[in-house]
Amino acid sequence: MATELLSPLLPQRRRGLAVAAAVPLLALLLVVVIFFHAPLPTTVSSPERVDLTLVAGAREKGAVCLDGSPPGYHLRRGFSSGSHNWLIYLEGGAWCNTAKSCFARTVSSFGSSKFMRAVKFSGILGNDHLENPDFYDWNIVVVRYCDGASFAGDAEGEDPDGTKLFFRGLRIWEAVVDELMGKGMDTAKQTLLTGCSAGSLAALLHCDNFRRRFPQEVSVKCLSDAGFFIDVKDLSGERSIWSLFNEVVHLHNVREVLPKDCLQNKDPTECFFASELIKSISTPTFILNSAYDSWQIQNVLAPDGSYPGQAWSSCKTDIRNCSSTQIDVLHGFRKKLVSKLKVAEDKRNWGLFIDSCFTHCQTPFNISWHSPISPRLDDRTIAEAVGDWYFGRRQDVKLIDCEYPCNPTCSSRLSTA
Ligand SMILES: *[C@@H]1O[C@H](CO)[C@@H](O)[C@H](O)[C@H]1NC(C)=O
Ligand SMILES: *[C@@H]1O[C@H](CO)[C@@H](O)[C@H](O)[C@H]1NC(C)=O
Repeated sequence: MATELLSPLLPQRRRGLAVAAAVPLLALLLVVVIFFHAPLPTTVSSPERVDLTLVAGAREKGAVCLDGSPPGYHLRRGFSSGSHNWLIYLEGGAWCNTAKSCFARTVSSFGSSKFMRAVKFSGILGNDHLENPDFYDWNIVVVRYCDGASFAGDAEGEDPDGTKLFFRGLRIWEAVVDELMGKGMDTAKQTLLTGCSAGSLAALLHCDNFRRRFPQEVSVKCLSDAGFFIDVKDLSGERSIWSLFNEVVHLHNVREVLPKDCLQNKDPTECFFASELIKSISTPTFILNSAYDSWQIQNVLAPDGSYPGQAWSSCKTDIRNCSSTQIDVLHGFRKKLVSKLKVAEDKRNWGLFIDSCFTHCQTPFNISWHSPISPRLDDRTIAEAVGDWYFGRRQDVKLIDCEYPCNPTCSSRLSTA
């Protein structure tokens, strides 16, 4: 199954997270190809393409991509009964944590709008009611990710050769929301802020702030898809993901978006984790994540170098190849993830869909969002569960799957990353 996030873009020096400089770029290219162009096996017709819009006046506001170019988004206008409803989807694509890895992004759409093209909308973004039963007629906006820090930083820097780099995720977020307000979002009746992976973390970071942009009578909710990164040790006992986040937070000066109550007793890096963020969010939020998130297993639990030899390579690429000892380690990961979701379970008006399928990002693809072979919990597809929660059609919208491999609806087509 395609993911939009294949490489963590991690530094070369740290053991366990080493990635050669060329690899992230290649992976980013693959990412673009897979996310936006790969045909999905169950579909025949080709999905619609939506053009890129560059943010007006971005340079004056300092709201720019890593290379200083204006950021961009894709807007498809809503129609009929959806014309006053807005869904904002923040693109993902890991993070850059060093000047070097951020500079590497400037030759791709993840660091420069010079490389952004029209994209195809499918899954939760699609305009066909069969593939997307509840949101198909909404105004749908995909915001491109070109800052490298989940739309959250505000700083400047230089790459090793002295080229200026802009870490302006927060200003990009604000400039995009301002521009959309001027295009009709100011009269929205219902809105949903979402995104996948690093974009999903961004949706959590900005959720309450987005709520405050609308009058009380407007329905504002947030949906996090594969953004529930957890602070666990890798196989070698190192806190690799914490170290990565720590570098991202400091390089990009991520602070203003972090919840004040968290910052009072924790350091900013801890407050960048979804498990801390959800404690502070007061807007109704739905957490969608696999308990065996393939990206997290590959990059958080078992990053290259965190285990000897080849023992984990085959297991982390395809869960069907894991030994029973390895599966026990994965169950341990699931247990930690589920325990950190207790906060969400206890909140009224929140929703959960925590499946046991080995996958990462399930909303932007027909195949996982809503199709005959979608993962199901309580006999509901993700689209149905999210719709039930958003529109209050049912009360039981907190669904947590049993342990892998108990769920027969985890298609083998979703089982590889
Ligand atoms: C998703 O499904 C719709 C409706 O069946 C189809 O038009 C579209 O092409 C599909 N998207 C992709 C990416 O295959
Ligand atoms: C999984 O195991 C099969 C059978 O041993 C092997 O052919 C395949 O290459 C393995 N997959 C990965 C990703 O290592």
